[in-house]
Amino acid sequence: MRACIAGMGSYVPVKVLTNTDLEGMVATSDEWIVERTGIRERHVASPGEACSDLAVQAAERALAAARVSAAELDMILLATCTGDYPLPATACLIQHRLGAAKAAACDVSAACCGFVYALSLADAYIKTGMRHVLIIGSEVMSGITDWTDRNTCILFGDGAGAAVISASDNDRGILSTHLRSDGSLCELITVPGGGSRLPLSEKVVAERMQYIKMKGNETFKVAVRTLEEVARETLAANHLGVEDLDLYVPHQANIRILKAVASRLGLPPEKVMLNLDRYGNTSAASIPIALDEAVRQGRIKEGSLVLLGAFGAGLTWASALIRW
Ligand code: UT7
Repeated sequence: MRACIAGMGSYVPVKVLTNTDLEGMVATSDEWIVERTGIRERHVASPGEACSDLAVQAAERALAAARVSAAELDMILLATCTGDYPLPATACLIQHRLGAAKAAACDVSAACCGFVYALSLADAYIKTGMRHVLIIGSEVMSGITDWTDRNTCILFGDGAGAAVISASDNDRGILSTHLRSDGSLCELITVPGGGSRLPLSEKVVAERMQYIKMKGNETFKVAVRTLEEVARETLAANHLGVEDLDLYVPHQANIRILKAVASRLGLPPEKVMLNLDRYGNTSAASIPIALDEAVRQGRIKEGSLVLLGAFGAGLTWASALIRW
């Protein structure tokens, strides 16, 4: 018994924010952003467009691709750090809107690693008897972005990606998942205000503490190291080498991070999925959006060996190896 990806879907908001648009908002330039990050534009939600709105669109596409009805779902796991409300879990709003009458629903909080963490949970639930688990990464990062902070506002974008994970009795599917964390590095990426440590107040808002703060340079170094380590660990656990991979689909954070990881692993550029130029860093949505695109572009076919790699706030890092 294996858990396989039966269908994928993604959705991004219509509105596009280009680097040129950002030049009018903070002291930056298209040239700096492209050179330092690889990002050219990102999609941003319109006022009133929330995490569950993007998630439902992506989920409906994934269900259609998998030919699974919402009524058949046993569970919905939503990876997000930008849910509609602090309470309840946004996954419950999605459960209702999809009409997934018998599905359990909860959110997974693992920032940019959320989709791979959710994939690992779905894999475990399938192996213990569930038939269909819907996993979604959906983020409205624009809502927690400080649009006056040039260190962070150039990076993030909004979007959603979803996958239906189903029980399968052939050899293909999720071969293994590897999840890690190191909370001693929690201050590298954080939203300091709005939680129980520093509840929302006029002071919190005045000091802009409800927005993402990031130590970009330090995060960069840890990201390169952990992505390489977890990729090697995953391949070794499956007695496979880098040369066996058909496609590496990493979290789309920064092209320089991904080029450094690919070069350390000895992966040629054509085996690395990159789409951050058009979406920016969409946190938990970045891997499923990239996976969905790779499938639709024919870069992933039946039998392809696909490695996922993620890192993000927590810090957390994670990977998964899939025989498609
Ligand atoms: O999924 C979440 C995980 N997070 C990440 O993946 C982020 C990882 N880190 C990064 O992607 C990079 O560190 C950044 C893109 C955020 C920054 O690039 P960097 O090469 O690490 O630049 P830096 O922070 O060392 O800053 C270099 C210079 C600074 O100026 P000074 O102090 O040298 O005069 C910054 O003030 O670049 C300046 N700078 C900018 N200049 C123009 C910072 N942001 C900008 C900007 N436009 N937007």
